Amino acid sequence: MTMFHPTTDTYRAGARTMLGEYYTSDTVLREERERVFASNWICVGRESDVAEPGAFVLADVAGESIIIVRDRGAESKVRAFYNVCRHRGTRLCAETTGRFGETIQCPYHAWTYRLDGRLTGAPHMGETEGFSMADYPLHAVALERWEGFLFVNLSKSPEPFATVFAPVNNRFARYNLASLRTVRRIDYDVKANWKLVMQNYSECLHCPTIHPELTTKLPYTSGANDLTEGAFLGGYMEIKAPHESATMSGRACALPLGEFSDADKVRAYYYTLFPTMMLSMHPDYAVFYSVRPVAVDRSAVRCEWMVHPDAPAAPGYNIADAEEFWDRTNRQDWDICARSQAGVSSRAYAPGPYSPRESIPAAWDREYLRVMSAGQ
Ligand code: FES
Ligand SMILES: [Fe+2]
Repeated sequence: MTMFHPTTDTYRAGARTMLGEYYTSDTVLREERERVFASNWICVGRESDVAEPGAFVLADVAGESIIIVRDRGAESKVRAFYNVCRHRGTRLCAETTGRFGETIQCPYHAWTYRLDGRLTGAPHMGETEGFSMADYPLHAVALERWEGFLFVNLSKSPEPFATVFAPVNNRFARYNLASLRTVRRIDYDVKANWKLVMQNYSECLHCPTIHPELTTKLPYTSGANDLTEGAFLGGYMEIKAPHESATMSGRACALPLGEFSDADKVRAYYYTLFPTMMLSMHPDYAVFYSVRPVAVDRSAVRCEWMVHPDAPAAPGYNIADAEEFWDRTNRQDWDICARSQAGVSSRAYAPGPYSPRESIPAAWDREYLRVMSAGQ
């Protein structure tokens, strides 16, 4: 959704779209699994998804099933483990969400793990010479939290989260993202490569043609990009008076998310967080997306709407107004992404020129290609 602005942008003349194989090749997808999804911090949802001690969700990261669980006990720490038994490798947990008791038990031979990963029961293994339960904890995965979001990194030596997220550390503090409450969630099945979804979110050159309703509230020539190179990209658009927010009615749909400057009261901020998270912040609600590749030509997109925790009980609350606005917009985007997928799959497709108004998708591609070629 973000815009080119001559004073802040780093448009590079000659930027072109990527080769077709990036959108069609299973070899590229396998490479992405290692270089992008198994080596970067991947958003797996919100801390509130596992609010209670014992609560868990399963996340699919780089084709791996990962258990995200809140420990019981004094600390109630959120942890992440591979969903793999240390005995004979069986998948431990089949439910995608739920609540464990004190332990996680393998359905095969009943090896039993505490929620901190320690093995505490292994029937008949005492008869095995040299066996020690201490040697077989669940395989832990690095997990970090930021602004109420949870991220995992499958790498054995992940790049420190604080280093990676330094460009956005405290940048959105005024939106109080950590305390926001998810009130709507929609899962979309998009018939396009995951990168087309990220690129589409990164420009509004398509807004007048694809989103005629959105354009009346967020003029596509308004605003400026303020993160223009690297893993985090985007900027803001202006909400056109008399509209107050990006909603069907144009009215604010919930309490303000924080104390805003006059400028922020009429702005909507849109960012991509490499590789697969997108974050939209409006004065009265925020939306985040997480994108997961299912196949070269298919992506699962989860979209959640978040509001001030007191908003649902306050007068004037109408999140449906924002939900419908983005649900319509999203479906328009997924439709054009599917058409893009069909076109870039053609033998006739060749990289085409980006315009200055597509400086952010061009920067996104640069970051992607950097990650894909790192260490080569
Ligand atoms: S495979 Fe899990 S207990 Fe045997
Ligand atoms: Fe769009």
